[in-house]
Amino acid sequence: MKRVQGKVAIVTGGASGIGLASSQLMAKEGAKVVIADYNLEGAEKAAQELVSQGFEAQAMFLDASKEESIKEVVEKTVEAYGTLNVMYNNVGGTNLKKDLDIVNMDMSEWDRGMKMNLDSVVYGCRYAIPHMIKAGGGSIINTASMAAFASDSVRTVYGASKAAVVQLTKYVATQYGKQNIRANAIAPGLILTPAAKNNLPEEMLHMFQKYNALAYHGEPEDIGYTVVFLASDESKFITGQTIQVEGGHYLANPTVPDMRELMAKKQ
Ligand SMILES: NC(=O)c1ccc[n+]([C@@H]2O[C@H](COP(=O)([O-])OP(=O)(O)OC[C@H]3O[C@@H](n4cnc5c(N)ncnc54)[C@H](O)[C@@H]3O)[C@@H](O)[C@H]2O)c1
Repeated sequence: MKRVQGKVAIVTGGASGIGLASSQLMAKEGAKVVIADYNLEGAEKAAQELVSQGFEAQAMFLDASKEESIKEVVEKTVEAYGTLNVMYNNVGGTNLKKDLDIVNMDMSEWDRGMKMNLDSVVYGCRYAIPHMIKAGGGSIINTASMAAFASDSVRTVYGASKAAVVQLTKYVATQYGKQNIRANAIAPGLILTPAAKNNLPEEMLHMFQKYNALAYHGEPEDIGYTVVFLASDESKFITGQTIQVEGGHYLANPTVPDMRELMAKKQ
């Protein structure tokens, strides 16, 4: 038996990066996956590839910042497959040109970031839960970020919205646990999605590497396997948690890497 055999799952932002890897891994582990994205072409390509390999997937258009759009995707999924077992609320992001420090940030970016990162998760939960109750339970997974825990000189709305996702996840877990609905979040550190690989300068990648406890960077599949675990019944006693998948980047006293360099120079 595959790990999420027969489960019906929606992945928001499933056309690229973390969402794409999670869609692929869940489909390969037996789920029927709806890849929901505003890049419909990318979502269709991803779904077709899975179907051509003998897995079950389909694409749907989604604008996750819009309540009606999430409602429609949930309803169309239930129409197509009869139920909903896994809701992976993964859409999120930031605009580095506008999401600055509290004084200088563009307030339109505050509104946009909150809608994209937090409201989208609220909508995903609101519309998935009634169907999960009918199904006898389900698993909600939300993508947070390590920015929820460690602050930054910029990215104010990103950090605040992702911190809210962590707390919202606990509320949902508390409110619907008795109906057999689990809610967990994943907080990725830097993950080398195609966009991150193309956009981050080499020096910045080295900087991240230096502060990771592990000797390598995170890949989209590292989040995808965590999603499969949280979607599956293997995690049936885990709820309200945020699993940090970040290579030990935030693990130790922050001076450790610099201290190592200093000691090496002194030898
Ligand atoms: N990559 C990282 O290092 C990293 C680190 C921490 C957290 N995260 C979080 O992981 C999640 C996925 O990030 P990623 O790096 O895979 O991003 P990505 O840009 O590779 O993929 C995001 C996907 O979401 C889609 N999308 C964006 N806005 C949408 C909307 N309003 N409605 C529907 N679809 C929309 C895009 O078309 C794209 O397919 C985000 O929530 C992000 O904040 C990423």
